[in-house]
Amino acid sequence: MAILPILTEGNPLLREKSVPVKKITKKHLKLIRDMVQTMKDANGVGLAAPQVGVLERIIVIDIGDGPFALINPEIVSMEGSERDVEGCLSVPGLNAYVTRAYRVAVKGLNPEGKPVRYEGEGLLARAFQHEIDHLDGILFIDYLADSNDSEGNKSK
Ligand code: NI
Repeated sequence: MAILPILTEGNPLLREKSVPVKKITKKHLKLIRDMVQTMKDANGVGLAAPQVGVLERIIVIDIGDGPFALINPEIVSMEGSERDVEGCLSVPGLNAYVTRAYRVAVKGLNPEGKPVRYEGEGLLARAFQHEIDHLDGILFIDYLADSNDSEGNKSK
């Protein structure tokens, strides 16, 4: 396993749209292991492949009860809304309030290639929305530009 360098805001790769994984290969499985290691090392709750420079639709999440990976994740339903503090490993040092759906259902493939579906609320729902945004070149700071939501504490 390896700890991968995490790209930071300003790197154009973070603004690209990632492509779906057509066939899961050993290379993808190694990438997932490295992403989990990298997320743990950085004390993150999630990481998306473009953050380590790979423009493929893969995310890993660990909200404290163990890491899991999702390939080609898609949000299939959203409910409610919640405003809470968010940060991003690619935007070090900034935490700010973002309004997100409170509950989401997400489908995708697990690393074995089997279709899986997750339902999450609160932090898990937020992590899914944040990481899937990365696959479309969206950063959480994009939601701050046009609102008063940026008063969140900037220290970490
Ligand atoms: Ni992020």
